[in-house]
Amino acid sequence: MTHPTALPESIDATVQALLAHDYVAERELATTTFLALKLQRPLFVEGEPGTGKTEIAKTLARMLDRPLIRLQCFEGLDLAGAAYEWNYARQMMAIRLRELGPPEAATAAAPGITSRGSALETELFSERFLIKRALLQAIDPANPVAPVLLIDELDRADEPFEAFLLEVLSDFQITIPELGTVHATQPPVVVITSNRTREIHDAVKRRCLYHWVGFPDAARERAILDRRVPGAPERLSAEIVAFVQRLRGVDLYKLPGVAETIEWTRALMALDAMVLDPQTVQHTLGVILKYQDDIARMQGGEAARLLAEAQDAMRSAGRA
Ligand SMILES: Nc1ncnc2c1ncn2[C@@H]1O[C@H](COP(=O)(O)OP(=O)(O)OP(=O)(O)O)[C@@H](O)[C@H]1O
Ligand SMILES: [Mg+2]
Repeated sequence: MTHPTALPESIDATVQALLAHDYVAERELATTTFLALKLQRPLFVEGEPGTGKTEIAKTLARMLDRPLIRLQCFEGLDLAGAAYEWNYARQMMAIRLRELGPPEAATAAAPGITSRGSALETELFSERFLIKRALLQAIDPANPVAPVLLIDELDRADEPFEAFLLEVLSDFQITIPELGTVHATQPPVVVITSNRTREIHDAVKRRCLYHWVGFPDAARERAILDRRVPGAPERLSAEIVAFVQRLRGVDLYKLPGVAETIEWTRALMALDAMVLDPQTVQHTLGVILKYQDDIARMQGGEAARLLAEAQDAMRSAGRA
C-alpha cells in the first residue's frame, strides 16, 4: 500500500504543507507533527480552547489526502461506542431465521448438535455481525489507505477508557475476544486532543509526541486571520489582533481563543466596520466573551481603555 500523498520530508516542508492548507503552525508544532508522521507515533495536542487542536487533525487529513475518522470523547464513552459492538438485532434475526429454517437442515446437523451450535456461534460472531466504530474503522486492514484518526477531547472520557486506548496506540491493534486480534496493515495517523480539564494518564502520553498549544503571538494570529478571513480590511484585522492580544492579559474567567478572533472579524465585517471604535467593541463583546462576569468586567470604559492602548501601540509601531 502506498501513501496517497507523500509525507513531508523536513520541518520546513511540514510548515509549508500545513500553510498550503491554511494552517499556520508555529515551528515547535511543525517539528512535533513532522516527527509524529515520520516515527508513526500519535500526536498529542493539549491546550487552550479554540487554538487549533482539532483543526490540525482535519488539516493533516486534507494535506495527506486521507479520510478523517473522528472519535469525539464524552463521559461514559466505552468500548461499544469507541471501537465495536455486536449487532444484537441482526444476530437475533439470524437465530430466528435458523429456527424457522427447513427441518432437514436440523436433521442434517443433528449428529452434532454442539457443532451445529458452535457453527452458528462462529457465524454470529463473524465480521458480518460486527458494528465497527471509529477506533476499529481506523485500524481496519481492509482500508485502502490509512486514515487520520482524531481522538478529540480525550479529557472528557473516563479514565478507564484510556487503559483500553493503550493497546490501540502502542500496537495499532484491537483484540475482540470472540473474533481475534485486528491489526492495522498501515498504521493510521493519530491525533489526540485534550483541553486539560484533567490530566491524561502518563501511560497514554508516553506513547505519543506531545505539544502544548498556547495562544498565538500577534504576528501568527494576524497570519491566521489572513488565511481564515481573507477579505477582512487590513486595518480592521490589525486592530482586532492588537485588541484581543491585550484582552488575553486581563484576568478573565475564559480568555478568547483564535476561534473567537475569527468569529469577531466575521461579525465586524458583517457590520461593515472598517476600524474598531469603542461603541462597536462594547456592543459586540458577546462574540468574543461568553461569560457575563467577563463582559461585565470589560464594561465601564475598560474595553475602551484597552482599545486606546492597542491603537496607540499600533500608531507607535507604524512610526517606528
Ligand atoms: N494555527 C491555526 N491556523 C489556522 N487556523 C487556525 C489555527 N488555530 C486555530 N485556527 C482556527 O480556529 C478555529 C478553532 O480551531 P479548533 O476548532 O481546532 O480549536 P480547538 O483547539 O480544537 O478548540 P476546542 O478546545 O474548543 O475544541 C478553527 O476554525 C481554525 O480554523
Ligand atoms: Mg477542538
